[in-house]
Amino acid sequence: METKNKQFKRYTVTSALPYANGPVHIGHLAGVYVPADIYVRYLRLKGEDVIFIGGSDEHGVPITIKARQQGISPQEVVDKYHNMIKDSFERFGISFDVYSRTSASIHHETASAFFKTLYDKGEFIEKTSQQYFDEEAQQFLADRYITGVCPHCSFERAYGDQCENCGTSLSPLDLINPRSALSGNVPVLRETKHWYLPLDQAEGWLREWIVEGHKDDWKTNVYGQCKSWIDQGLQPRAVTRDLEWGVKVPLEDAEGKVLYVWFDAPIGYISATREWSEKTGIDWQPYWKSKDSKLVHFIGKDNIVFHCIIFPAMLKSEGSFILPENVPANEFLNLESDKISTSRNWAVWLHEYLDEFPGKEDVLRYVLTANAPETKDNDFTWRDFQARNNNELLAVFGNFVNRTLVLTQKYFDGIVPGPANLTEKDNEVLALMDAFPASIGASIEAYRFREALGEFMNLARLGNKYLTENEPWKLFKTDPERVKTILAVSLQVVAKLSLLAEPFLPFTAKKLSEMIGLGGLNWQTAGKTMLLSEGHQLGQPAFLFEKIEDEVIELQVQKLMETKKANQQAVTPQAKPQKELIAYEDFARMDIRTGVILAAEIVPKTKKLLKLTIDTGIDKRTVVSGIAEYYSPEAIIGQKVCMLVNLAPRALRGIESNGMILMAENSEGKLCFVQPTENFHPGSEVK
Ligand code: 2FM
Ligand code: ZN
Repeated sequence: METKNKQFKRYTVTSALPYANGPVHIGHLAGVYVPADIYVRYLRLKGEDVIFIGGSDEHGVPITIKARQQGISPQEVVDKYHNMIKDSFERFGISFDVYSRTSASIHHETASAFFKTLYDKGEFIEKTSQQYFDEEAQQFLADRYITGVCPHCSFERAYGDQCENCGTSLSPLDLINPRSALSGNVPVLRETKHWYLPLDQAEGWLREWIVEGHKDDWKTNVYGQCKSWIDQGLQPRAVTRDLEWGVKVPLEDAEGKVLYVWFDAPIGYISATREWSEKTGIDWQPYWKSKDSKLVHFIGKDNIVFHCIIFPAMLKSEGSFILPENVPANEFLNLESDKISTSRNWAVWLHEYLDEFPGKEDVLRYVLTANAPETKDNDFTWRDFQARNNNELLAVFGNFVNRTLVLTQKYFDGIVPGPANLTEKDNEVLALMDAFPASIGASIEAYRFREALGEFMNLARLGNKYLTENEPWKLFKTDPERVKTILAVSLQVVAKLSLLAEPFLPFTAKKLSEMIGLGGLNWQTAGKTMLLSEGHQLGQPAFLFEKIEDEVIELQVQKLMETKKANQQAVTPQAKPQKELIAYEDFARMDIRTGVILAAEIVPKTKKLLKLTIDTGIDKRTVVSGIAEYYSPEAIIGQKVCMLVNLAPRALRGIESNGMILMAENSEGKLCFVQPTENFHPGSEVK
């Protein structure tokens, strides 16, 4: 249980390692990196010993698939995206102490040694099983390399691990008509040996630790998912794969095998800490092994089981590591009511945002926190982005700060005045204001970042309201002493805002604290009332935020519309699966001939049926065909067709139909003729 009163000496804060197969988007930011960054910035302001760990997850099959598609090596893929991700995080102010990568040699050593320790301790079970093998490519197929028909929804391109149409998790053996994504061939089953982590044996302590121990302090979504996994019964989980790309299994009889990406990736947090340790000379071990360290994993909801069950089981099996105190996982952020998707390019990419909105890093941080998907999936819209900037950041926070600083400049040459006589109302504002650091801190410590930001904005609102109600601009001529007091009180609110803004809006906080010449404060001193002393010289006021105009937003909306249009055009229809095999004799029984339509008319009282007269070369006969939705009778006189002539006659709406015209039907159900491309005489055989 994350005991509220337990004192920790240090904090180890990790954020999920993004796959280095694409850039980072707003969904990643809102789910993981912005909340994690708020948390660590707050802890640092409190003077805590904290290390914030990030890095790129550079293994896994999607990376090898991308490399294959682009005709480059997996290392080239990860080099490109790792650098891009690292750079955009830096520009966005995600304040990692270390941003590492899992293709680094220190990670290979760490992960390999971790596996070996578990192996030597006898923590794994070895099992041989049948897995799909591509004989042409001469390799075992990872789940993602096998596609087939989903047994649940008949979706024709389900993967070996999941059907993306109905969401069911699958195993490759569940797929109907499996195919290798490498060669397109039907794969064969072959025996292969792998090492399994016996999660079933960990069920007892996992239940005690999570289900009984973390009911009250882990988020409901996290707790619920874990409980449901444990209640369903845990199964041994393979931690190795037959692949080339990854951390080699450090055993002699493991040629061509690597660690499963979800085994090596979380060890990446440890490797990154070791890398940080080498750079700083600070021992890494207390951060991972000392009971007075608090380990917190920030992740998205799709990572819950790996961080709450599998990684803790690995750490516990190793024996010398602590377990996480909390795993705050967010739900997903959608974009303009649609699921964010890398493959459909439906995203706001961080690197593009930074290029297109220079100096507006904090606006995005603000919007993603104010609208964070903490308890349910949420939606990002460009209109909301604009409204939150214009109506909240600019109109409340920015406006209050600016008015206070401009008036102080105007009346007192930017020198902080001393309060004269404090009224009851002044004292009330000062007292209210002093409670904010504690309440904001409490929300952050409970991982309720929206609430914390809401509180911060309430402080800005308090100041704004106070200034508006007291109207110092109307009093200066008649009562300058009163103006001194009003601005003295307002300036204390400004000072407090400049400090409390740091976790949420670090760029703005820096700008503001430089503007008012206030540095070196921490979260504790923020609790004090008078942060700016009388006589202190303020710098020149400048705007903290600027209005975002409609045209800017229109441009972004337009960009998304274009993506949507391109996606619609690019939808490649999927062919239905092949029917059962038949013998040639079965086909040969069908007598298919070329023919010509001589006459056509609508079958009365129907919308779909046409009565056709066809010259089959054998005779002239009547055929009823359901094509009236696609062809008008006049348009098809003289149309060449292929038709099945030996189909037993059928009566349709009282008309005897003697054969069937062959039509192609596309995925939308639209029909078109199949016709000879040369001028063949009617009655030519189609075989
Ligand atoms: O879901 C993902 O993007 C994974 N790359 C997260 C890995 S987190 C950790 F285990 F490394
Ligand atoms: Zn399905």
